[in-house]
Order: sequence, then C-alpha cells, then structure tokens
Amino acid sequence: MHVTHLSLADFRSYRRAEIELGPGVTVFVGPNGQGKTNLVEAVGYLATLGSHRVASDGPLVRSGAERAVVRAAVVEGERQQLVELELNPGRANRARINRSTQVRPRDALGIVRTVLFAPEDLSLVKGDPGERRRFLDELLTALAPRLAGVRADYDRVLKQRNTLLKSAAMARRHGSRSGGGRGVDLSTLDVWDQHLARTGAELLARRLELVAALQPLADEAYEQLAPGGGPVGLEYRSTADAAEPAEGDAPEAGAVDSVPGGGAEVPSAQVLLDRLTAALGAARPREVERGVTLVGPHRDELLLRLGALPAKGYASHGESWSLALALRLASYALLRQDGPEPVLVLDDVFAELDARRRERLAGLVAPGEQVLVTAAVAEDVPAVLAGRRFEVADGRVAAAGDDRGGGGRAAAESASGRADAGGAAPHPASPQRKEPDEDPRTGDGPVHGG
Ligand SMILES: Nc1ncnc2c1ncn2[C@@H]1O[C@H](COP(=O)(O)OP(=O)(O)OP(=O)(O)O)[C@@H](O)[C@H]1O
Ligand SMILES: [Mg+2]
Repeated sequence: MHVTHLSLADFRSYRRAEIELGPGVTVFVGPNGQGKTNLVEAVGYLATLGSHRVASDGPLVRSGAERAVVRAAVVEGERQQLVELELNPGRANRARINRSTQVRPRDALGIVRTVLFAPEDLSLVKGDPGERRRFLDELLTALAPRLAGVRADYDRVLKQRNTLLKSAAMARRHGSRSGGGRGVDLSTLDVWDQHLARTGAELLARRLELVAALQPLADEAYEQLAPGGGPVGLEYRSTADAAEPAEGDAPEAGAVDSVPGGGAEVPSAQVLLDRLTAALGAARPREVERGVTLVGPHRDELLLRLGALPAKGYASHGESWSLALALRLASYALLRQDGPEPVLVLDDVFAELDARRRERLAGLVAPGEQVLVTAAVAEDVPAVLAGRRFEVADGRVAAAGDDRGGGGRAAAESASGRADAGGAAPHPASPQRKEPDEDPRTGDGPVHGG
C-alpha cells in the first residue's frame, strides 16, 4: 500500500500541510528542527495511533490549538481509502474512514501500515522492558488490528484489578495499625483474576507466536546489515513462569514460554490460561501486600541476545543500533508476508550509520512500494534511494523535483503563520485554506467502503 496524499491540520508545527506523495522513494531534506520528522510522525500515527517520539498525544497538537487532524488517502492495489484521525488530548480521539460517520480510532487500524525506523529505536535494545513490549504489541496490532481490542480489554482489566489491590493494600495497612481490618473482602479479586488471565493468555499467546516468527527474520536481517556479528536471539520471558509454581505443577524454569531459535512450539491457549491463573494465585499474597498486579503480559520481558550475551548492557552502540534496525527489518518482512506491503519510513537513520551499513540498509529498503526518508543532509542518503525530493525549511514543504523525472506538490503553513505553496513545484498547490471535507484532491476516484 502507499499514501497518495497527506493532509495535516494543527499537527505539531504545521497549521496546515497538504502533501502529495507517490509510490517509490520520497526524501524530505532540510536543516534541523524544520518539521521533517513531524511529517513522517503523522504517517506513523495513522498506522499505530501513537507517536514514535512521545507517549501522549498532547505534544502532537500544534501549540495553541485545541485539536489536530491527520488525514491520508491510501492506495492498496486497485482500492482507494481515506482515513482521518482527530486528536483531542484529554478527550476521546475520533476517526473517520472514507468520510463515513465516526468510528473508533482503533477501527481505522490496518488501513495505513508502516514500518518506521528512527533514532528512538535504540531504546528497543537499550531501554526498559516496556519499550520491547510496546514493539511487540504494535507489531501484533499491525498484523491483526483485532488485537487492539484485546490489548484495550487487558489494560482495562489490569487497571481495575490494580485499583482493587491498592485499596485492599491500604485497608490492610490501615487495619493492621488499628488492630482490626482482618478479612478484607477479596472475593471480587477472583473475578478479576479470571478476566486478567483470559485476556492476558490471549495476548501472551500472540506475543509468543510473534517472537517465534520474528526470531529467524531478525537473525537474517542482522546478518545482512552486519555480516558475522550475530546470531541474534529473541527470548520471551513470561512472569507467568517466574512466579512460584502452583502445587503439583512441575517447575519448568521458564523453559516452555521462551522461544529460543523460534523452533519451540507455542503452548496452547488453555495451557497459558492455566499457567497464568496459577501464577496469579501464587502471587496473590505479594500482590495484596504491594497493591499492584505483578503477573501478566504487562510485566513480561523480551530478552535480546547478540551472540552469547544479552544485547542490553553488553552490545556496543553500533551493534545495538544494528540490532534495532534488524528488528524493524524483521517486522517489515513479517508484515509483507502477511498482507499489504507497509510504507517504510526512515527518519534520520543514515546519519547514525557507517558508510557500509548505510549502503546495506538502503539496498534492503529501496525496493519497497513506498519509502519515506528524512535527512538533514542530503548527502547522507545513499544514491540507491534517489527519488522525489521535498525541501523542508521554515515550516515550508517545497517539492524540489524528482531525480527520476516526476514532481511532487506540497503546501504547508507553519505554526508561525507563514503560508507557502511549494516554490519549485511544477504544479503549485493552492495555498487557500479548505475544510478537510472540501479538499478535492483526496475526494475523487473510486472510494470503496472499509
Ligand atoms: N506541538 C507543537 N506545536 C508547535 N511546534 C511544535 C510542536 N511540536 C514540535 N514543534 C516544533 O517542531 C520542530 C521540530 O520538528 P521536527 O522534529 O520535525 O524537526 P526535524 O526537521 O525532523 O529536525 P531534525 O533534523 O533535527 O530531526 C521544533 O522546532 C519544535 O519546536
Ligand atoms: Mg527529525
């Protein structure tokens, strides 16, 4: 699939931006802090309902504005679709598909698929376990948008269970001080345990399958980027295993849930459910003591290995960065095996790589259906990624021609209020403001319901 038109309103530094895109490579070039990443971040947001840079939507809305709108016209084979997200920090976001009435934002998942490479990916290797869990869950959601619902259910159950545990813990402390308070009613906790185990087991099963599928692909990608530097090992460590085993349960030392080499069978849903239930039972005294849920996918870890050593804490900067890229390349391989080809976004990655790895990465992504690249220095982008070029400066996005003969159109108005139609563009776009619904460039052509 590819994006044919990107439209922003009050997103990041852009008051308005209308950018025509096409298949093949598009490079956004310009000095630091001019709004290049802001553009590709918007594309990533359509695919994941989140930013690769910030955890909340607040910073994505132009300073001083109340809401942001990101809209894209998308082509997949013969099919055209229009997806629109409205970001309302502090309130519910809204979505529309093909100008329909509103849908939940997560119903819009799957229309835009992306694999985004960015300097922030280093935290996949060096960061907290939460970064790797998010990586897995985002990829799961891209592969099967339905899982966004499972994820949301799990988060909701977890939150409610934590609230209950917290008040139980407080009551206990308070009770023990006053000498009473024994027998705080925890029977409702049993119900929440069942909910948590059920949704948790489904999430766990999908993550284990995913890790098994990613393992050989990540190893292969690393070998392509940095020959001889591997092998790469992915091992999923479940808190369901770490907990003391329930009575009669043979201690397996985490051997079953880990998927070294990708060859291990993923346990059945029932086995995972039983295991999670048992682990919750075993952890209950500690959980009531601490007032928080200690067992479940929200506490699991994806261990990354390079050779015999864990990557985190051992791998060099360059190795960590190559491993992060390998995980993204593996995601790309998996997504294209299983559905429409995703848009490849390379945000500022070439400056971080040595010349050899730069060439290798560029060679691997160049054949992609659509590749969006940002770079502060045009010379950092390998020649194999020559394509359409936009110059981004002072809040302007101007088409700078096409190394292969075509041209692009863009109009952008920065936060400071300057308005510009793409200066060097062969067909300058109209700078006049239009309501999202009135833009004819995204409205024509057959639009099939989603
Ligand atoms: N919500 C916002 N409202 C207004 N301006 C914003 C907002 N968020 C970010 N900006 C501005 O956008 C600019 C950063 O844009 P962006 O990250 O896209 O830069 P870039 O061109 O990718 O730079 P670099 O080459 O350094 O990566 C900053 O000047 C920042 O102040
Ligand atoms: Mg940037």
